[in-house]
Amino acid sequence: MASSGITIISENPSRTKKMGKRLASRLKGGEVLAFFGDLGAGKTTFIKGLINWFLPGRRVISPTFIIVRQYWPVRTKVSQIIHADLYRLEKIPEIEDLGLTDFYNNPGAVLLIEWAGKIQGFLPEKRLELHFDVKEDNSRIITIKHMNQFPHLKNIF
Ligand SMILES: Nc1ncnc2c1ncn2[C@@H]1O[C@H](COP(=O)(O)OP(=O)(O)OP(=O)(O)O)[C@@H](O)[C@H]1O
Ligand SMILES: [Mg+2]
Repeated sequence: MASSGITIISENPSRTKKMGKRLASRLKGGEVLAFFGDLGAGKTTFIKGLINWFLPGRRVISPTFIIVRQYWPVRTKVSQIIHADLYRLEKIPEIEDLGLTDFYNNPGAVLLIEWAGKIQGFLPEKRLELHFDVKEDNSRIITIKHMNQFPHLKNIF
């Protein structure tokens, strides 16, 4: 599993958004993407690129207070994008109320989870993990893991 991880350096936010767009272009629906990394590491920036590939110009803001926000792309295999931000999640039982598990392996839906570590034990086994780290020079190290569970994403980066 570990061998299927890849690491990319992103020098600036627009590169991070481009990575999100590139990943978006290969999604088929049914994928769960789990995002890890500290405050300001670049998770939402990546997700903005991803969602804007499907919905150009749509304002994408992190659902920090409402926890979940949904988007409905048209004319693509992906018909629903669920963007969750679990930063403010306090108790694990809340995840049942969130209904996120409805989107595990849900064809047509792409589930994006920021602060996925908050529900580590509840994440589906089949998930793409994206880990964000800030380097001293302010660029970002983006490590993508579990790539081998998604053959259609092979060699994407
Ligand atoms: N290479 C880079 N990639 C992404 N963001 C960058 C990069 N360099 C600088 N930044 C800046 O870092 C910030 C990243 O914020 P962003 O909201 O994407 O982080 P986040 O990981 O979602 O944080 P939070 O946990 O608060 O939701 C933005 O202000 C962005 O402009
Ligand atoms: Mg964020």
